[in-house]
Amino acid sequence: MKIPAIILFACAPAFTAPAPQPCASCHPKEVSGYARTGMANSLFRPQGQPSGRFSHALSGSAFSIQSTASGMRQRMERNGFEGEFPVEYVIGSGNHAFGYLVRIGDFLFQSPVSYYSKKKLWDMAPGYEGDRNPDFTRPVAIECLVCHSGKPLPVADTLNRYQSPAFESEAISCDRCHGPVEAHLHAPSPRNILNPRKLSARMRDSICEQCHLGGEARIPNPGQRIGDFHPGQILEEVFSVYIFKNPLGGLKVVSHAEQLALSTCARQSGDKMWCGACHNPHDKPGNVATYYRAKCLNCHGADLVKTHPRPSEDCVGCHMQRQTAKDGGHTAFTDHRIRRRPNLALQPPDSMRELAAWHDPAPPLAKRNLGLANITVGERDLSASHMDAGYRLLSDVYEASPKDAAVVTALGLVLLRKGRPVEAARLYEEALSLQPAYAPYHINIATAWNQAGDTAKAISHLEKAIGMDPSLESAYRKLGEIYSQKKQPAKLRETLQRYLKFDPNNVTVRTLLDEQ
Ligand code: HEC
Ligand code: HEC
Ligand code: HEC
Ligand code: HEC
Ligand code: HEC
Ligand code: HEC
Ligand code: HEC
Repeated sequence: MKIPAIILFACAPAFTAPAPQPCASCHPKEVSGYARTGMANSLFRPQGQPSGRFSHALSGSAFSIQSTASGMRQRMERNGFEGEFPVEYVIGSGNHAFGYLVRIGDFLFQSPVSYYSKKKLWDMAPGYEGDRNPDFTRPVAIECLVCHSGKPLPVADTLNRYQSPAFESEAISCDRCHGPVEAHLHAPSPRNILNPRKLSARMRDSICEQCHLGGEARIPNPGQRIGDFHPGQILEEVFSVYIFKNPLGGLKVVSHAEQLALSTCARQSGDKMWCGACHNPHDKPGNVATYYRAKCLNCHGADLVKTHPRPSEDCVGCHMQRQTAKDGGHTAFTDHRIRRRPNLALQPPDSMRELAAWHDPAPPLAKRNLGLANITVGERDLSASHMDAGYRLLSDVYEASPKDAAVVTALGLVLLRKGRPVEAARLYEEALSLQPAYAPYHINIATAWNQAGDTAKAISHLEKAIGMDPSLESAYRKLGEIYSQKKQPAKLRETLQRYLKFDPNNVTVRTLLDEQ
């Protein structure tokens, strides 16, 4: 049910590079080694999935999942209504969990259910536990698929519309770590393909960080999208990642890079330490303890034995313990801080913590991207101090370059949150004029005019948004709210019915309609 109220980043043109090619004839060992990893199975059409049922007490929903040789269907029942969706893609190898994507028209949405493989149980997907009206309506934006698939094929200027099929390669493909493969396939040579290990430290690390460093905010440079990154680049040529300055304490799922950087091992071994010091995407460990112990001993040699307690055993079991991740549902993850002794330090609440760039982008962008990161986090955490910091940074940026839709939109958001909706609406209109084909910008404008009391303008922009993109559930919902406030039940019903033309299985909207 939750489209973020305000959409900061619009979409630039889609990917164009061709699909990965057969490499097995010349590199059979690397191909079969990679096939066994989670990454090589990160996204696929449903096959061999479990069936089951469970209920979600908070929302009073009952779910049942049916898997057969021909596919998978997920059904939700609530308030006497029933919605059933065929699953289009499975996301996640199942090492920890499977998530699911459904397609309505050309649009991809998240399923509210996940299967937790370790515990062999069905439950709500992470982020849906507290949802009182879970449904199959959260858009799957390109940012999610860039980390989880080889090559998604989004339609430009949309939030979650994709070509059919939606991927050129479903699972994470060779080119995501080795760069473009065409020249190499044409005339194989080590000179026309990248080996991450042989790159400079920052280029090398950027390859894993494109997916393994979520941070608090990831801000694309003007005119770029996160998926534009390709191996051989430095991350900040395309986007920059922002983290809290004092990231002690509990784990977050996508933060292996952040954690590793905090370890004494990394801080005292310079460029030698990277993900590849312990992991090789072509080599799945047999015995975990022995495999990683050998990696530790590459750096920690003979001198360790003298003082160390029982060093012959499982190094990782003592120094990199598994912990429950903060935002990962039912899963546990390995602590990459490589601590002397495991301890869980307390930390200040997120709303009091200052953001900093993982690595700064080029100077003209440093202020812009930090400003956008602050406003993104401020909105997410309802933190006025981050909003203010972002506003100060972006006001200067706006003076210098007023044609940046992301900056204009972010400034509008701060003004809206500060109760200055007319000024916000003006800025949102400016953003729309910079990118007129992006329908969600109409929702921003409508939100601001509605808050300013001009419902006629709000209605007109919501109608435009729906006309351009019939999938935007939040647009119908806002429109419905306005009609409800204006005591126009016929209009409200008509709006809900229009949404059901797009998504006839939607239980939440059918319930609302029934209550009218
Ligand atoms: C027709 C045979 C052939 C095919 C097909 C082929 N390669 Fe290669 N590849 C080679 C040769 C030859 C080398 C150089 C080996 C050497 O110098 O040791 C190489 C080297 C590499 C290297 C190592 C580069 C380095 O500097 O260490 C990578 C990575 C690589 N190939 C990836 C791929 C990928 C990915 C594909 C599929 C898209 C692929 N190759 C397809 C023949 C091939
Ligand atoms: C395109 C995004 C992407 C890139 C690039 C990437 N990863 Fe991953 N990685 C993932 C995802 C997604 C998973 C979880 C896969 C799953 O189990 O569904 C993962 C899982 C892993 C795992 C857990 C074990 C496994 O095989 O699932 C390791 C270890 C790992 N990655 C290491 C690396 C290293 C090292 C690099 C850089 C050389 C790297 N990754 C680059 C997305 C990526
Ligand atoms: C910044 C990159 C990134 C983004 C964005 C992201 N993920 Fe992930 N996700 C990962 C990585 C990396 C892992 C593996 C984590 C690990 O094993 O530590 C993962 C793990 C998962 C898993 C568990 C897979 C398994 O079995 O290990 C699921 C399911 C999942 N993500 C779904 C999603 C969905 C759905 C979205 C978007 C709404 C999303 N993720 C957004 C990087 C990302
Ligand atoms: C998640 C990142 C990632 C993906 C995806 C990936 N590789 Fe690699 N590959 C690496 C890394 C890192 C190395 C260097 C390993 C090392 O030397 O420690 C490597 C090394 C190689 C090498 C050189 C081996 C050698 O010893 O010289 C070949 C060949 C290769 N990969 C082929 C492929 C092929 C083919 C695919 C797709 C089926 C693929 N890789 C997918 C990260 C990746
Ligand atoms: C790339 C080299 C490298 C690798 C690989 C490596 N370390 Fe380290 N580690 C270091 C350096 C350098 C130090 C700092 C000097 C020292 O204490 O030896 C260090 C320090 C440590 C410390 C002391 C931490 C502290 O806060 O005092 C522990 C514990 C440790 N390493 C454990 C491990 C374990 C366990 C592994 C394998 C999972 C490992 N290291 C892998 C380089 C490495
Ligand atoms: C010092 C060794 C070491 C380094 C360096 C290292 N890892 Fe790991 N990693 C481990 C160990 C040990 C595990 C747990 C493996 C297991 O239990 O099967 C692990 C597990 C993982 C997993 C699986 C999910 C989890 O948390 O258990 C991912 C994903 C991962 N590492 C990514 C990375 C990335 C990305 C980097 C670089 C930023 C990195 N690792 C660097 C040792 C290391
Ligand atoms: C039984 C748990 C345990 C195992 C297994 C273990 N360690 Fe430790 N390690 C410790 C503790 C506890 C300390 C802290 C000792 C102290 O503070 O005096 C430590 C300290 C260290 C240090 C800091 C330097 C030092 O000697 O004080 C390094 C480096 C280290 N361990 C590496 C390793 C490596 C590598 C392995 C595997 C070969 C390993 N440890 C296995 C518990 C363990």
